[in-house]
Amino acid sequence: MDKILLELKDLTKIYKEGLEKNKVLDKVNLKISAGTFNVFVGPSGSGKSTLLNLIAMLDTATEGEILFEGKNILNLSEKKKAKLRLDKIGFVFQFDGLLPEFSVIENVNMPALIKGKSAKTRALDLLKNLNIDTLASKMPPSLSGGEKQRVAIARSLINNPILVLADEPTGNLDGARKEQVFKDFAALAKEGIAVLMVTHDIKAADYADNCYKIENGKIDLKK
Ligand SMILES: Nc1ncnc2c1ncn2[C@@H]1O[C@H](COP(=O)(O)OP(=O)(O)OP(=O)(O)O)[C@@H](O)[C@H]1O
Ligand SMILES: [Mg+2]
Repeated sequence: MDKILLELKDLTKIYKEGLEKNKVLDKVNLKISAGTFNVFVGPSGSGKSTLLNLIAMLDTATEGEILFEGKNILNLSEKKKAKLRLDKIGFVFQFDGLLPEFSVIENVNMPALIKGKSAKTRALDLLKNLNIDTLASKMPPSLSGGEKQRVAIARSLINNPILVLADEPTGNLDGARKEQVFKDFAALAKEGIAVLMVTHDIKAADYADNCYKIENGKIDLKK
């Protein structure tokens, strides 16, 4: 039996603006197993980022539950949320979010440092695995878009997360580099990490264990 890492139960998100209500997620139910690469596609505005933000505990749900390792994470204190994020979840966002005044290796090591456990050796290993160890001492502004994305992936892994959330991580990459990132995520899943990646690129489905479509508040399995 697959180990369920994450479970969404009747998850609903309604944005209210004045009298207008925008139901972005409508009683969504979904189970994500450890060691799987899950891709989410859907039109612009369909709720993909909303979904990742809820799982990242950066936003509150209108209704429903998100169980992470069997526990509802939506009602945790801010302190517990912060600890859970730092200990178990890695993030890769469309705009890489690297700190320009720190070198590549310092950027990758940053979440470990915040946790109080500098891990430069591991940072270098991660860079090696992604074939960018030669960039370790470079500064982010001197890197290409693809190189920055890979540094951001290395950074997301520094604290050994069991869940990686990636919101259009290949947004500014060309075809070959996109596919390399998809391969990287598929390889991470093989190591036991659950990866959730939002993308507009349908090709990602070729590399994924599961491909979901988000539309009209619902999430349906396509593959
Ligand atoms: N903070 C907010 N307040 C009000 N409405 C919001 C907020 N964030 C998102 N929305 C609305 O919720 C819907 C879903 O937005 P979301 O950002 O999740 O879409 P998306 O699928 O990620 O789109 P894209 O592919 O363009 O990134 C949109 O209609 C958006 O306008
Ligand atoms: Mg989005």
